[in-house]
Amino acid sequence: MKVLDAKFVQGFIRMCNDGWEQGWHERNGGNLSYRIKAEEIEEIKDELTATDDWREIGTEVPELSGEYFMVTGSGKYFRNVILDPEDSCSIIEIDESGSRYRILWGLVNGGRPTSELPSHLMNHEVKKIASGGAHRVIYHAHTTNVIALTFVLPLTDEAFTRELWEMATECPVVFPAGVGVVGWMVPGGRDIAVATSELMKKYDVAIWAHHGMFCSGEDFDLTFGLMHTVEKSAEILVKTLSMTSEKRQTIQPDEFRALAKDFKVELPEQFLYEK
Ligand code: 13P
Ligand code: ZN
Repeated sequence: MKVLDAKFVQGFIRMCNDGWEQGWHERNGGNLSYRIKAEEIEEIKDELTATDDWREIGTEVPELSGEYFMVTGSGKYFRNVILDPEDSCSIIEIDESGSRYRILWGLVNGGRPTSELPSHLMNHEVKKIASGGAHRVIYHAHTTNVIALTFVLPLTDEAFTRELWEMATECPVVFPAGVGVVGWMVPGGRDIAVATSELMKKYDVAIWAHHGMFCSGEDFDLTFGLMHTVEKSAEILVKTLSMTSEKRQTIQPDEFRALAKDFKVELPEQFLYEK
């Protein structure tokens, strides 16, 4: 089968375009990676060739040794993925030590995988372990309203989780574990990757102050849907704060507890503090 005909590749391309249409990917902003299933690699193996040397990832991900990923390219624009996926994206293989990768498909006009590869792979490693292999997608987007809130709210998991939960009744059901927050750091390296993957042990969402968001999920629908839900909630909060500095009414801790009971989710008490 041709790589471009594979269902997971089509899902990957569609998700990039959906993110572009949401306005989350100015210029080359954001990146996406997918941990490819063994049977999916089998289907496309005739089109995979190692034309490149092994290169350092910049961190170690031993749990991912021998795994294959589809990943967007560094400096590539999400708006172009649908037009020319072979220029914008790549399929890479991780070596046996988990410290190097090589390109097997894509980036036909040159280039490298996203500069956030260390964060993507360290998040994949943590989520693969935490989810028993179920999570396969890591998505980074420059979500406008979440970024705006990082200038206004305290940069704590508690403040962001509680405020985002209050803004839409579905939120505690969609991300019951809450969201983690990373204070401002230099992007693109191992340090921010370590900080983010530490949060991913507990959460499916990590917010990067003054930069954007990372989401993890089992498939493209769930991961895009998670990003969309968090960002929409942030948009409601931005609109609310634009009208007033004090909410007249909101969802109360006991109401969250009642919601948790009916929807069979566990909401950590850490986020249900009295204000
Ligand atoms: P890349 O173009 O290297 O993927 O970087 C974009 C980005 O959002 C960095 O955080
Ligand atoms: Zn970014």
